[in-house]
Amino acid sequence: QLHPLYLSGCPTTANCGSLGTPTNPALSCEHLKSVCADTASDFYYIESAGLYHKVFCEMDIEGGGWARYGRSNQGTTWNYVDEDAAEITLDIINASEVKEMTDLKYNRFLVQTDVVFKMKADDSVNPSRLTTRSLPWLEESPLFIPDYGNDHTRIEFPSGSVDRVTCIPGSSSKCGQGGGLPTANGLSKPFFFQSLFFSPRGTGASAHNDQWNRNKYTWDGSYYFVYAK
Ligand SMILES: *[C@@H]1O[C@H](CO)[C@@H](O)[C@H](O)[C@H]1NC(C)=O
Repeated sequence: QLHPLYLSGCPTTANCGSLGTPTNPALSCEHLKSVCADTASDFYYIESAGLYHKVFCEMDIEGGGWARYGRSNQGTTWNYVDEDAAEITLDIINASEVKEMTDLKYNRFLVQTDVVFKMKADDSVNPSRLTTRSLPWLEESPLFIPDYGNDHTRIEFPSGSVDRVTCIPGSSSKCGQGGGLPTANGLSKPFFFQSLFFSPRGTGASAHNDQWNRNKYTWDGSYYFVYAK
């Protein structure tokens, strides 16, 4: 009987039973999928920066072999709808997970979420700040409505995609004028959300006639996942 570590040097379907375990971590979910085509979606061990690390490998969608990052609402509820008061900070993907994505040289990404996202400033100042990572290079980029959001500046997911935003203007707007905002009715480059700070009434906030719904936001859904390979 050969030790699993010995077998791992020469992958065959014979060692599928142990590949992805602590004694025989895979190099990645994609490696596991390539060696063991029939492996089910589940948690497996992969090796990252010399450490064994447990990760959920999604083997069923888009060819499989994806490492999954992000959050679902087990233990959390995301039901902020047209919220103009609650200040919330949400870490979707933390810094060590982004580092792992870089270390493992992932270059393909899929964002999947059922979240409805909207944020606006309408004749108001909205201090909310969102942190994104560009795809596929993972450059950290802030996304916010700068200064005074003239007549109705709103960002949201465009119809049919969740890895970018569009900016919906009123007669005048801050679209295309900083803060990472795309041009009016244009699209941003693809990204995923790393962290969110919604603060419609926080430090620096102001709203015409104290109508705080001018700074309202929506983050409503049950999961936000980023798949990488
Ligand atoms: C980052 O998130 C992962 C997955 O939820 C968790 O295991 C890890 O402890 C977090 N790291 C930090 C530094 O918060």
